[in-house]
Amino acid sequence: MRSLFSVQELAIAFGSNQVLTSVNFDLGEGEVLGVIGPNGAGKTVLLNIITGILKPDKGRMVFLDQDIVGVSTVDRARRGIGRTFQIPRSFENMTSYENTLVGGVFGDAQTEKAAGRKACEILDTIGLCDKKLEFAGKLSLLDRKRLEIGIALAGNPKMLLLDEAAGGLTESEVSEILEIVRRIKASGISIIWIEHVLQTMLHGTDRVLLLADGRDMICGLPEEVMASREVEDVYLGTGGKRRKRVAE
Ligand SMILES: Nc1ncnc2c1ncn2[C@@H]1O[C@H](COP(=O)(O)OP(=O)(O)OP(=O)(O)O)[C@@H](O)[C@H]1O
Ligand SMILES: [Mg+2]
Repeated sequence: MRSLFSVQELAIAFGSNQVLTSVNFDLGEGEVLGVIGPNGAGKTVLLNIITGILKPDKGRMVFLDQDIVGVSTVDRARRGIGRTFQIPRSFENMTSYENTLVGGVFGDAQTEKAAGRKACEILDTIGLCDKKLEFAGKLSLLDRKRLEIGIALAGNPKMLLLDEAAGGLTESEVSEILEIVRRIKASGISIIWIEHVLQTMLHGTDRVLLLADGRDMICGLPEEVMASREVEDVYLGTGGKRRKRVAE
């Protein structure tokens, strides 16, 4: 699989808080990479660095064979890096359709006509066609999560970064998000998906990366990572150490 995006030796500190020490990974074309890690591990910080909101202290990021560390946030979006936010950021007094339109016009410099056509396709992908004239502020959490993905898609990304797209949803609602992600993947878009919901990582990703202690602790097939000593250590705190002691 051809690499679309890679990160090498990424590091960032906020004062004495060294959040990322050395993060390394690759994202293949058409791949869905899940990212898990405890609260405060630096998952959102990682997305903010990838989109250019935060500048890393160290490290390289290569997107479509070009180093993007010095590239502006707007230019990264125009090159094809799109994202959703952990707390949905749609315009509450605008309809679903208008929100998606704005995503195309401002996120990808499309004409209003082109963005309008694309908005209809996107509303179909995210399952919001029947609510296209509803105000975003009146939508349920699931529909706001859908719209958040739709606005990011309107920017025409090649790589989509999802920050807890399924957070706070019920099990059946999570299945709807999983289905949307499958559709997006099928359209050829690569995805980095941060999530705490186990179901999404096991059923919606090709590989999972565990981010903890400032680094990529383990990365591999979802079921292998979920069953790994590293995950047990990070989430339960004792497993790996206990086993190590037994082995000594
Ligand atoms: N702009 C900032 N300035 C200073 N510190 C920050 C900034 N952004 C994040 N941090 C700190 O970086 C650390 C990682 O935060 P981050 O939001 O990335 O965690 P996370 O892994 O996304 O957690 P969660 O699962 O709760 O969303 C936290 O200690 C946070 O306080
Ligand atoms: Mg976060």
